[in-house]
Amino acid sequence: MIVPHIIDTAKLNEAINKYKIGSILNVANGPEGPTFNREKWKSVINTVQDYAANSSSGIPVIYGVDAIHGATYTSNSTLFPQEIGLAASWNLSLAKNMGEVTAYETRASGIPWNFSPVLDLGRTPIWSRFFETLGEDVYLTKKMGAAIVEGYQGGSKIDEKHVAACLKHYVGYGSPRSGRDRTPALIPQRTMEELHLPPFEEAIKKGALTVMINSGEVNGIPGHKNKYLITDVLKNKWGFAGFTVSDWEDFIMLHKVAQTDSSVKQGIASAINAGVDMSMVPNNPEYKKYCKLLIELVNEGAVSKDRINDAVRRILRVKHHLNLFEQPTVNYSSYTDFGSKKHIAKAYRAAAESVTLLKNTDNILPLNKNARIMVIGPSANSLSCLNGAWTHTWQGVEEKYHNNHPTIKEAIENEIGEISYFKGSIMSMENGDEVDLPSQDLKAAVNACKNHDVAIVCLGELPSTERPGDIYSLDMALEQRNIIKQLSKTGIPIVLVLVEGRPKIINDIEPLSAAVLQAYLPGDQGGRAVSDILFGKVNPSGKLPYTYPRHNGVVMHYDHKQSELINGNTWQNDFFNPQWEFAHGLSYTTFEYSELSLNKKNLYSNDKDSIVVSVSITNTGKREGKESVQLYINDHYATISPSLKKLIAFDKISLLPSEKKTLTFSIRNEDLMFYGADNTWQSEEGSFSVIIKDLKSTFNLKND
Ligand code: BGC
Repeated sequence: MIVPHIIDTAKLNEAINKYKIGSILNVANGPEGPTFNREKWKSVINTVQDYAANSSSGIPVIYGVDAIHGATYTSNSTLFPQEIGLAASWNLSLAKNMGEVTAYETRASGIPWNFSPVLDLGRTPIWSRFFETLGEDVYLTKKMGAAIVEGYQGGSKIDEKHVAACLKHYVGYGSPRSGRDRTPALIPQRTMEELHLPPFEEAIKKGALTVMINSGEVNGIPGHKNKYLITDVLKNKWGFAGFTVSDWEDFIMLHKVAQTDSSVKQGIASAINAGVDMSMVPNNPEYKKYCKLLIELVNEGAVSKDRINDAVRRILRVKHHLNLFEQPTVNYSSYTDFGSKKHIAKAYRAAAESVTLLKNTDNILPLNKNARIMVIGPSANSLSCLNGAWTHTWQGVEEKYHNNHPTIKEAIENEIGEISYFKGSIMSMENGDEVDLPSQDLKAAVNACKNHDVAIVCLGELPSTERPGDIYSLDMALEQRNIIKQLSKTGIPIVLVLVEGRPKIINDIEPLSAAVLQAYLPGDQGGRAVSDILFGKVNPSGKLPYTYPRHNGVVMHYDHKQSELINGNTWQNDFFNPQWEFAHGLSYTTFEYSELSLNKKNLYSNDKDSIVVSVSITNTGKREGKESVQLYINDHYATISPSLKKLIAFDKISLLPSEKKTLTFSIRNEDLMFYGADNTWQSEEGSFSVIIKDLKSTFNLKND
């Protein structure tokens, strides 16, 4: 790549005028980093659109980037928590805020198209893109995903403060059987219908304009060849009128990697005929070959003109929705809120509501500001660790591109003054394994324990995504666990802060820690959010959006079945024993649930009937706090073996000390449906439990 990055106008001219390229993506990924300031983006986008405007068609280019937790490729933008953290907030308005601010700042950079949100389910914790998901539950993903799309797109006509969303990666990409990126998934039709498709369908209902296709394969069929999913389901059944885009070079990969197509040319035909409307052929000169081959395919009748016209119409429709024909570039001076305090406050709130208190023995937290504090650990002083991948660069590892936001260590210093700080270990990723190195200062830290009241130990993982993030084991790196093991010998109370995109196994160090705080990848405001929770300025209210595994080899989800509980060692139903359960999260106050009641005992299986559930929650502690109240259903017996719990509703509320609120939810027939043996959605008569926290009640579903 050329450094500094400049547009080669001869190549741009050739691409637009000779090859009629209609879309451009991304940024270069080189040693100087791809992050541009707004001035630079202005010159890039204006140049591109000038060439497009002066081409024979005059059709504007649609430019896209991965602005997945803020305008990640524009310097001084506002960075939110990655999706896994956002989901832990259980707060739909914060998800919408993330969408709005990201859209605003992406558009402020002249870019109208965002490759986000990820709606793949996070049910494979070792997968390198787990952090990009909204967690393991379909309902939470559906609701959060739709809120993000609303934030990105605004209304039906997208104005210059909003962008087109791109739902990805349609569909099943997040469940590779091996846990490694872009490897085969095996997904039964029922699981596809019940878990993987609904978040996409919901976002399409919200008007999402574009969809990116799964780079892997499901049941032997590569995402890019799956006509059933792309054309029959997405376009025909759901009525999606926007366009689908391939993932990186995936037309080519049908030949080179999936080996379902004996030539690149055949791969192009397969993908377009399956319903992919735009090819992400990101490199020069490969795209030229693609253009030539596609023309040949049309001339030979292997791809019909109708299919091409359909794809073109869809792409033009999205460009029209974005108003690109009237206004291909934006008025850069009208974005006075870019990187503003107002935006930062929203990102801070999202981070503060996502951080999850997993353990707090004897209420060691919040800490007293006068305590003598030691901060140690490789994620304590790193903005890269707080932000994760897709931040300033693809893998997000380089510290040098970050703005001046405080790390955890710095935020603690800002709060209480000078502290002792040690690295403890050095993060390192080699040949796909996290082989952290010992740090010289661990000994000094152990010696210093006697002069300190508490050690805040910040562990985690280096940012990574896609194939570079494939790892061999979920175990927290040995050298990092060693920090806690060594410190604990001195008897100093340990507060473990996890800064991680996937749940690393910590079953040996959790018992040595008095408190555990899960920060996820909270973004630029994460340092402040963690510090404010440690010192009690903020009362934590995040709840895990996934089941935190205790063992590397046991990955179970909250919606497991009775048969998964039997333990051959105890002959009890106690096999489900995660480190922490889905939706676990403590507060500095306490909540009491009471008065669960149903307005009737029978629900009729038609579209109109509903049962109203009410429940009261009282803040029984001494400080104001937020609580996400969740309603689960358990179908007692069903033709298809039922899961023990299924989330069907939630609401996050705020309560003052002693305050009591009564919430109501409604249950309808559709909430009780499953995908039956005959491959149709159905409900069955019978009894069900409503579960809210530790309260339970039953009702019956009856046919009319
Ligand atoms: C990723 C997508 C991303 C695209 C463009 C691909 O490798 O799988 O999620 O949007 O690159 O950067």
